[in-house]
Amino acid sequence: MAQRALARVDLGAIERNARTLAAVAAPAGLCAVVKADGYGHGMVRAAEAARAGGATWLAVATAEEARGLRAGGLEGPVLVMGALSDAELAVALAARADVVAWREAFVERLATAPGAAGTGVHVKLDTGMGRLGTRDPGEATRVAEAVAGRDALRLAGAMTHFATADDDPGFLAEQLAAFTPWARAIKDAHPDVIVHAANSAATLREPAARFDLVRCGIAVYGMDPFQEDPAEHGLEPALSLTSYVAEVKDAAPGQSAGYGRRFVAERPTRIGTLPIGYGDGVRRALTNNADVLVGGRRVPLVGTVSMDNVTVDLGAAEVARGAEAVLIGTQGGERVLAEEWARRLGTINYEVTCGISARVPRVHVR
Ligand SMILES: Cc1ncc(COP(=O)(O)O)c(C=O)c1O
Repeated sequence: MAQRALARVDLGAIERNARTLAAVAAPAGLCAVVKADGYGHGMVRAAEAARAGGATWLAVATAEEARGLRAGGLEGPVLVMGALSDAELAVALAARADVVAWREAFVERLATAPGAAGTGVHVKLDTGMGRLGTRDPGEATRVAEAVAGRDALRLAGAMTHFATADDDPGFLAEQLAAFTPWARAIKDAHPDVIVHAANSAATLREPAARFDLVRCGIAVYGMDPFQEDPAEHGLEPALSLTSYVAEVKDAAPGQSAGYGRRFVAERPTRIGTLPIGYGDGVRRALTNNADVLVGGRRVPLVGTVSMDNVTVDLGAAEVARGAEAVLIGTQGGERVLAEEWARRLGTINYEVTCGISARVPRVHVR
């Protein structure tokens, strides 16, 4: 019997994507970004697969995520990229994670925190993202020297983050021009420092952004940072989202499906009901605005997406109850990419897979 809602994650695909990205980045190393439960793919299993594919670093947003990686048995370098409260800092240090700094006051706080001995610190220059980091290269250098001057701490990295690597190469070039001389000066003074800046888009499009290490998230999961076809970069989507046809019923002209009667049959047809809905991450804005693969062909999602069900127009085709339905993934020769959902929803593929809810079991396969 098919499962109600299932996210199947192909760990082999993640491993191959990591290998592809590591080869693109070489001689720079690969840091796999596995925050937000591995972009919805399952953090620990995704991290293991990325490691197997050659990722030498793992990055997360929160201290709790770093703790989760250690609890899952992952050793080796882990970077917490986000801002840290005192309580979160304690969790990050207990997880033996590296942390990011851009204010001297934080370095003071860190150096005197219990368990800080030996902690790697990455100094962040804000070259245009406008979120974390300092915009002032002088301050960033002072922070780096403050770290280097503390016996308890290790100056481990010099970093920035790009705002437009996916859609504005001009601004990417400006950020790169702001970052490169500062990072070079830090590296000249501290040769062991790892310089890192590139996300997936910058890794794929801008060799000068790769430095010592690239931080790839979306591409590791086989999604396209440019919102087109991941295959253009040799990437394989790792996640598929499936359900099944729980009910099939005839609909005569004038009969409707779903809340608000937003689908009314105009001709005799057959409606299939799939027991998956916005409670699982099938966003309500996909109402009358998606295709599902059933019997190896695309059928339109019709009617309002409910919390627990969606309906599809099967037309005249004979579809048995229990038939598999693919909402994201491939079936027969057809495929629906997360990028297609993103386009229909006016969002990005990141939000599509992160939005698959905790109610959906992740099954990891090879
Ligand atoms: C600081 C930082 N670096 C790298 C990444 C990875 O970006 P991407 O998933 O586009 O490769 C992220 C993700 O948002 C990030 O916040």
